[in-house]
Amino acid sequence: MSYKRHLVTSALPYINGVKHLGNLVGSMLPADVYARFLRQKGEEVIYICATDDHGTPAEIAAHKAGLSVKEFCDQSHETQKEIYEGFALKFDHFGRTSSQQNAALTQHFCAKLKEEGFIEEKSDQQLYSIDDERYLPDRYVEGTCPHCGFEGARGDECEGCGKQMEPTELLNPRSSISGSTNIEVRETRHLYIKLSELDGRVRDWLDTRHDFSSLARAIGYKWLDEGLHDRCITRDLKWGVSVDQPGYEGKVFYVWFDAPIGYIGATQEWAEKTGGDWESFWKKPEEVYYTQFMAKDNVSFHTINFPATQLGSGETWKTVDNIKAFNWLTYYGGKFSTSRNHGIFTDKALELLPADYWRYYLMARAPESDDSSFTWADMQGVINKDLADVLGNYVNRLLKFTAKKFDGKVPEAGTWSAAEDKFLTETSALLADYNKHLANCEFRKAMSALRALWVAGNQYLAEQEPWSVFKEDEARAATILRTAFNFLSVIARLSEVVIPFTTEKLQALIHEQDKQGTWVTDMEAELKREAEDRTFEAPSDVLIQKIEDEQIAEFEGTFGSEAA
Ligand code: MF3
Ligand code: ZN
Repeated sequence: MSYKRHLVTSALPYINGVKHLGNLVGSMLPADVYARFLRQKGEEVIYICATDDHGTPAEIAAHKAGLSVKEFCDQSHETQKEIYEGFALKFDHFGRTSSQQNAALTQHFCAKLKEEGFIEEKSDQQLYSIDDERYLPDRYVEGTCPHCGFEGARGDECEGCGKQMEPTELLNPRSSISGSTNIEVRETRHLYIKLSELDGRVRDWLDTRHDFSSLARAIGYKWLDEGLHDRCITRDLKWGVSVDQPGYEGKVFYVWFDAPIGYIGATQEWAEKTGGDWESFWKKPEEVYYTQFMAKDNVSFHTINFPATQLGSGETWKTVDNIKAFNWLTYYGGKFSTSRNHGIFTDKALELLPADYWRYYLMARAPESDDSSFTWADMQGVINKDLADVLGNYVNRLLKFTAKKFDGKVPEAGTWSAAEDKFLTETSALLADYNKHLANCEFRKAMSALRALWVAGNQYLAEQEPWSVFKEDEARAATILRTAFNFLSVIARLSEVVIPFTTEKLQALIHEQDKQGTWVTDMEAELKREAEDRTFEAPSDVLIQKIEDEQIAEFEGTFGSEAA
């Protein structure tokens, strides 16, 4: 990693309500694991996220809750923020796209694009609901998709085929506020970004993005190959970033125009809060490595629309180096759906099981090369086998036995033998794998390397049997236990990226809180560490509770155990 600093962002969660686990696994959680890894390795990194506050869903949700949009967003922002803290997502800043910084930046980008000739003003046809006495942009209108015939298509994009579109293209439009079909087309003025003229720049840029996941590149080229169309970036709405131009009173920017600019806006919020230098992340492209995390439905906006905004501004902006895109996490093969309340929501998840269980399970089953199906039984298997039987068992056995025989102290060294050499060779190789997979954002592979490290520790103890050896050769038992102790210190540090609550407990037990947030570079030096008068405590309780069959039965009862 030869960059001066790293910028990490995850797709900004919509403000309209609590997100489900499918949202978490494809954006914020992997971004957190990756940012933690970089931080622990001593890299300069910031992880920036924010709520995506604008757009018609927020207005509609506020309307339903009987609140002003502002009040609704304030509350929902705090709710989401608390949940993410519960999952130990360590943002450097969790901002909002409705910030004043983002408004200024959005207006700035529009002005620059205009100077460069990439903004066109057009009188345009918009749907107007006579009964609701208002325009019906985006999600305020539903109808039949002209491309695939899906009947619940929304005015901005079709959930059936994923195509972006204009509301006027919908067949049989109806208002999603009142259901009224008493709709007419009216003339209104809007700003368009001329993507049709920016496509060469975007393609040239995409050609240089060698680190993108293959999924992200494929989606980008698919859009380019189909030909880019100019997109309307303003709306007849009140909630949003106002368009600071004469004749645009009462209009705002389209949510997908200001949302990705929110990555920059939230970095400015971070800079104001911490005294940090936001420009060192956004204005020095060659010094920064920028990684974005998102689910596949967001990729077109990040491979086409946002880069077009940045490149078309004629200014120097940091663009993304790696888009890590995810497929879907399904619930028993069916869709997790916020609108249909199906699957597990993040607030509920935290009430049911510890955050670390979710973090580990979701990363071990990350939908990287394909969709991944959540089932309660699968989760129980992964947690009980990997976390409880392998990691938990190692900790309990080691700490309890050593506490009894060596009085709560890490034993002094005996002689290092061939068994330790073998253990060192094996664990060094696994550490190298683990590093490589995390650096490449290959989370499934990283989790299996981590698990293999836990297994290696268990196996070493099982083969060396310090409890039997102790009876004949106390010095040899001491060597085994000290090596195992040193390895415990290692795995506590290496596991922190994914199970930070557990490793915090673990580090408290072995009196190594000062090692929190550090990484392991030299396995040999670690395993050969002297006893150094280290002390520890035996756990009073098992470190990791298994998930019982009764719990699974209960969860299946509550949430269902089949696809929707
Ligand atoms: N809110 C969008 C979603 O959940 C993601 C926005 S990503 C951003 O699909 F960069 F545009 F903000
Ligand atoms: Zn469609």
